[in-house]
Amino acid sequence: MNILAIETSCDDTCVAVVEAKGRKRPRFKILANIVSSQVEVHKKWGGVYPSLAKREHQKNLLPVLEKALKKAKNPKLNLIAVTNGPGLEPCLWIGVNFAKALSCYLDLPIVPVNHIEAHIVVNFVDKAQSSKFKSQNFPAVCLVVSGGHTQLILMRDIGKYKILGETRDDAAGECFDKVARILGLGYPGGPAIAAEAKKYGGRASVNLPRPMINQKNYDFSFSGLKTAVLYKYKDKKYIKEMCKEVQQAIIDVLLKKTIKAAKDYKAKTIILGGGVCANNELRKQFKQKFNCLIPPKNLCTDNAVMTAIAGYFGKPKDWQKIKADANLRIC
Ligand code: KG4
Ligand code: ZN
Repeated sequence: MNILAIETSCDDTCVAVVEAKGRKRPRFKILANIVSSQVEVHKKWGGVYPSLAKREHQKNLLPVLEKALKKAKNPKLNLIAVTNGPGLEPCLWIGVNFAKALSCYLDLPIVPVNHIEAHIVVNFVDKAQSSKFKSQNFPAVCLVVSGGHTQLILMRDIGKYKILGETRDDAAGECFDKVARILGLGYPGGPAIAAEAKKYGGRASVNLPRPMINQKNYDFSFSGLKTAVLYKYKDKKYIKEMCKEVQQAIIDVLLKKTIKAAKDYKAKTIILGGGVCANNELRKQFKQKFNCLIPPKNLCTDNAVMTAIAGYFGKPKDWQKIKADANLRIC
């Protein structure tokens, strides 16, 4: 079946067309994956400005849809998938209303998709990784790290989730973004900090805290890290070193908590997802510790391929009952 997917939860206007086959061993082929980034629009604010993002989605959705359909060579469509939360509510509504109109007009079933679940199941896209999604490989522990979320989730099967812990304040990606702003590195902060950190050869001599790393729970807190950077950052020449240390502090906490959750719940698989997983150092250090599933870099950050895959596993719903929900939970 061919799935048309729409994702507008934050600052990327995304449309994808994905061919999906098989239920026991699902296989996916990406026919089109268009991501229209709004980075230039939000740069001067140092973060996403919701009403501007909404306006950009309104402006971009139709051209992005046309581009995706053209790229996919106008295939016959069978299903529409749309992110309905969590995310920025005004942005979510643009995608949801657009998808509902399409569903009505094209007379196609429509599935609402949870953005966090989409970050997890996008790992199916890879043939080798998709072979791991068998009952004997569950339970899995999933770490979703994005600009809006940092959650450790127990996954007993597709569609069966339990949140084990999450951030009590800033998300890991948000911490990267806020630290980048303090250091004058621009938006989005993650890639900018990773690039600076790479330039620093030695071990960083600045020491930043690893918040909550030894606490016996699966929760996180990253806002103190940003404050620590603010106080320790005095001289511009420490930028590279500071970037290396902040990146390592975030990775240390994520790794330790994931290992704890995996041990406590006897996880057979560890699954990563979300924009922060595009970080090379994080990918390397997680892979050194265990054989985990990580999406290809371009599918870590927001895209609609992940929405299509989650939609394939989801249930169609009456379009009139689909609503955007900024605080939608995975369980
Ligand atoms: O999943 P995502 O695209 O959007 C949300 O759902 O929030 O994640 C965006 C976040 C941003 O905070 C961005 O700074 C971070 O992912 N990010 C990175 C990297 N690339 C993107 N963080 C660290 N290293 C990267 N290479
Ligand atoms: Zn995301």
